[in-house]
Amino acid sequence: MTSPLELQHIAVEIATEAGELARRRRGEGVSIAASKSTIADIVTEADREVEALIRERLAAARPDDGFLGEESGDAAGTTGITWVVDPIDGTVNYAFGMPSYAVSIAAVVDGTDPGTWRALAGVVHAPALGETFRAAAGEGAWLGEQRIRVNTDAPAGALIATGLGYDSRTHAGDLATLTRAMPLARDIRRIGAASLDLAFVAAGRLDGYFERGLQPWDIAAGRLLVDEAGGRSGWFEPDAFGRSLAVVAGPELYERLRSAILD
Ligand code: IPD
Ligand code: CA
Repeated sequence: MTSPLELQHIAVEIATEAGELARRRRGEGVSIAASKSTIADIVTEADREVEALIRERLAAARPDDGFLGEESGDAAGTTGITWVVDPIDGTVNYAFGMPSYAVSIAAVVDGTDPGTWRALAGVVHAPALGETFRAAAGEGAWLGEQRIRVNTDAPAGALIATGLGYDSRTHAGDLATLTRAMPLARDIRRIGAASLDLAFVAAGRLDGYFERGLQPWDIAAGRLLVDEAGGRSGWFEPDAFGRSLAVVAGPELYERLRSAILD
């Protein structure tokens, strides 16, 4: 059985190369290739090209593992390990020239449902920020060579991030959820890349984060970062639109945030 640290090493190498490609393509100019679930949910040629590179590199390094990617779907493996990949998380930021986008790569076992899988390794690499967050199960969470930890208290109120889905039918409900969280907040952030929201909670740059409607590739690496940084994370029942709820925070805030949103 390959160790979580070996899987992390592979993920970091590939994410770094993929991030360089994404950044180079961004410099050359980005074109929107298509809309997906709604007109606001876009994919660029770069998303597809970067995922193809990651898939090729993983197939060479780990030919018997499974794969699940945002842009090119899934393939079963024989080892029990699946690589869950978002080639460019924060595609709207990327298309608009904002630096908050990231390559997210994770290795999970026990299936591809975020409610029940177990993550072994993950990396969130933000090429335009020059930052690489990584974690391996039982080995802590790291930003470069520095160990990171979640915040353990928020005396002046919590800095909380969230996201709104691309489907306008869900906006009123999501804003009502945000209103319920506001009494806990000193301020709110909407960064636009779930993987970075999660990495920033792990690094103590945010106190907590919640969002409905995330996909497995949005959360796989970032949630392991939070857990390995001493935080808590939950994945809760879908709403009427079939969107599960992700909540992450440091140990002190977590239960209060979960309860403000759900109870
Ligand atoms: C999106 C981002 C965004 C979140 C959306 C995701 P994408 O991923 O993570 O912050 O609000 O739910 O779909 O489309 O940029 O890879
Ligand atoms: Ca994404």
